[in-house]
Amino acid sequence: MSNRDAGFGVDTGPEPAAVRVGLIGCGRIGRMHADIITDDVPGLVLTAVADVVSEASAGVAAATGARASSIEELLAADDVDAVAICSSTDTHVDLVVAAAQAGKAIFCEKPVSLDLAQVDRAVAAVQAAQVPFMIGFNRRFDPGHKSVRDCVAEGGIGDLHVLRITSRDPAPPPPEYVAVSGGIFLDMAIHDFDMVRYVVASDVVEVFARGAVRVDPRIGEAGDVDTAMIMLTHADGTLTSIDLSREAVYGYDQRVEAFGSGGMAVSDNPARHAGWRRTKDATTGEPIPWFFLDRYMESYRAEWRAFHTYLTDGGASPSGIEDARATTAVALAAGRSLREGRPVRVEELG
Ligand SMILES: NC(=O)c1ccc[n+]([C@@H]2O[C@H](COP(=O)([O-])OP(=O)(O)OC[C@H]3O[C@@H](n4cnc5c(N)ncnc54)[C@H](O)[C@@H]3O)[C@@H](O)[C@H]2O)c1
Repeated sequence: MSNRDAGFGVDTGPEPAAVRVGLIGCGRIGRMHADIITDDVPGLVLTAVADVVSEASAGVAAATGARASSIEELLAADDVDAVAICSSTDTHVDLVVAAAQAGKAIFCEKPVSLDLAQVDRAVAAVQAAQVPFMIGFNRRFDPGHKSVRDCVAEGGIGDLHVLRITSRDPAPPPPEYVAVSGGIFLDMAIHDFDMVRYVVASDVVEVFARGAVRVDPRIGEAGDVDTAMIMLTHADGTLTSIDLSREAVYGYDQRVEAFGSGGMAVSDNPARHAGWRRTKDATTGEPIPWFFLDRYMESYRAEWRAFHTYLTDGGASPSGIEDARATTAVALAAGRSLREGRPVRVEELG
């Protein structure tokens, strides 16, 4: 059944069909999504916003023209076709369940939960209600990363042998954040585990992770690592490596390389602009973007365009609830591998 058949967010007026969005969680990422929905995506209309902190929702309401609402009113509102869950991670599962039971289409920021049993509760609610669901794995919509994926899918580099991902933040988060974040694999590498799933059309079956504290000893004291290497084995024999760091002094270093029997496809870091200069001593160019909001802005816009298309044209979710579950399982397997010093089969996680 397509979402159009189900009547999700579709009117009969001229194109594009209007999808009315209610957004929960008006923090850093919620504010960005509210702006994109309001300004950048024809067909999406932000009708209501909610947050447990009323000043936060009032601020977004004033900036966008949406009404500030309670969570209960938003979930019950006739003028909300889709709920965007952008609140803190520990609220996601309850809100997914409530939105599904209210019959709303759902966009949920990553991760659904740090706990696989809780993810399964969300999966069950979405499946029982048969509502559209999309998880906010925005890197799928980065034009460079997508070009690698499309090249692999079209056979442009023959048989895929190896995928390499480099994922480095410019600066570490505060140790207090690290202590509640779920750790480097669930908090940071979850995007990379999704990129793996996106590019390689074969499930991860085994994870071997090594980690070290090379950046900030307080991250170690908080029970985490700040530097890691992860090796993944896929069901079809493809091998993936991911190298992670919480600190790259030159910026937000995000690269993807697929290597196969017929060549390789690469998504490199974009410079801020294409200008560069050469002197007798050196050739220099612009630095790479500093943080995720610089680097991935276009991907967030494309993510919302994809959500609109998904709700109005139907078809499979661009990043569905099964992607949310699979990436959480791989992240948990990486954590277990690091703790136990051995390769971990993903099926051990259940
Ligand atoms: N896809 C990405 O690139 C990306 C980037 C950053 C954050 N995120 C995810 O987005 C989510 C929010 O992150 P953030 O950086 O915006 O955090 P934040 O702390 O800036 O904002 C969270 C907001 O949620 C509100 N909130 C808390 N409990 C709530 C509840 N029960 N109901 C309604 N609102 C509630 C808080 O008051 C706050 O305004 C997290 O799950 C995070 O992992 C995703």
